[in-house]
Amino acid sequence: MPVVFQIGLLGLGTVGTGTANIILNPEQRHPLVRELNIAQVGVRSPDKARSVDLPPEVVTTDLDGIVTNPDIDIVVEVMGGIEPARSLVLKAIQHGKHVVTANKALIARHSDEIFTAAEAAGVYVLLEAAVGGGIPVIEPLKQSLCANRIDCITGILNGTTNYILTRMQQEGGDFEEILADAQELGYAEADPTADVDGFDAADKIAIVAALAYGGRINLDEVYCEGIRQITATDIDYADRLGFVIKLLATARRDRQSSQSSQSDRLEVRVHPTLVPKEHPLANVNDVFNAILVEGDPIGQVMFYGPGAGSGPTASAVVSDILNVAALLKVERSGSTKPDGTPMLDPLLAPSHQHYCSIRPIDDLETRFYTRLLAKDEPGVIGTLGICFGKNNVSLESIVQIDKHNEQAEIVIVTHKVREGNVRQALKAIRDFDVVEYVPGILRVLD
Ligand SMILES: NC(=O)c1ccc[n+]([C@@H]2O[C@H](COP(=O)([O-])OP(=O)(O)OC[C@H]3O[C@@H](n4cnc5c(N)ncnc54)[C@H](OP(=O)(O)O)[C@@H]3O)[C@@H](O)[C@H]2O)c1
Repeated sequence: MPVVFQIGLLGLGTVGTGTANIILNPEQRHPLVRELNIAQVGVRSPDKARSVDLPPEVVTTDLDGIVTNPDIDIVVEVMGGIEPARSLVLKAIQHGKHVVTANKALIARHSDEIFTAAEAAGVYVLLEAAVGGGIPVIEPLKQSLCANRIDCITGILNGTTNYILTRMQQEGGDFEEILADAQELGYAEADPTADVDGFDAADKIAIVAALAYGGRINLDEVYCEGIRQITATDIDYADRLGFVIKLLATARRDRQSSQSSQSDRLEVRVHPTLVPKEHPLANVNDVFNAILVEGDPIGQVMFYGPGAGSGPTASAVVSDILNVAALLKVERSGSTKPDGTPMLDPLLAPSHQHYCSIRPIDDLETRFYTRLLAKDEPGVIGTLGICFGKNNVSLESIVQIDKHNEQAEIVIVTHKVREGNVRQALKAIRDFDVVEYVPGILRVLD
């Protein structure tokens, strides 16, 4: 019987539902997911229909009861807003609970008191989902990149504004008309202020800068300018000059002052920026987010992916829950397993006990490209087509590209077929008198 970690979920909306759905469906995920149990879920309207299959008795409107429940190990705050989220998080910490939150607005404004309280109580507050939704960026900054001196972080951190700017770029429309359309399609809120005026991106860059540069950031000092003033004309002129306009959030170590005694001086800012078309951030479109980190000695690394949405954001929330559960597991075991061997962190030291079954390459199903040289005679293409057909290889195209020295170069692209069948067909084709040369196959990316 596995150890079970009791989870108290505050909120069962977009992110809460995604989180519950991962925990309730642990198959083929990390084995530690099976050791999570959703003990209680706090909501405002308990009778609302939800797209998650939870027993009704775990759902409550008594959120205070969740954060003080002695049986709960980890409180997951996915309700949003400042109050009562702030008070509930602080109370959970005072009651010795580890906290996972997706709430960037809360952390950007109240990290000071929250982290001070967490330190005093000896608990973790993890917030991977607060920046970049499903994109792992907080943990890489804390762990994988921690050997680096971070020079600069530049990101597209708001999906709504990126969607609007992408459509302005592609369709030539004006801000107001595309915003209205985005609101209708559900890509922008009825009150779009936090997104289009840059405040949401400012919250996120403040959180990331604090981590990267090891100091708290006063949100009032983050320069913030949104995209309302961008016109179709700006987009058009930028395009002609070789740029796209993106809302970038940037945190950069001030190079001049870093050489002086003021080594902590930072630039932290959000504003529309002309980005050269060949820059990696220029091709991050629609609602996608990306964060480019420049560090010494690593150079540039870019994180790219879905910056919001139920599943992606829940992926980040559950990874935080698992990080805490892994630590608790080692702590509770007294650092040894029942057989006396040391208990290692299950996320850092996975103990696989079986070999995965690997599909032979002949069973791969994809599209294939091949080319061959054949005598330039009537009926060659038909003969090749028949041979592929006999081997169950359906062709997307077969064309004669070139002709030199009485030889024709024929290029073939198949539909999605089994690799073994393609190889069998080519083996037969190589024996044809008319065929001079078959170099091999290349697989086409789906
Ligand atoms: N949505 C995303 O893609 C995304 C991405 C990254 C981060 N986030 C962050 O994740 C958090 C949650 O966002 P969301 O989109 O999941 O919000 P949401 O869909 O509005 O869900 C909020 C949930 O919290 C509950 N709730 C809110 N206030 C409450 C109160 N005072 N008492 C009891 N229950 C309350 C609501 O209960 P009812 O259901 O009963 O109304 C609802 O279940 C926010 O901090 C957001 O910034 C969201």
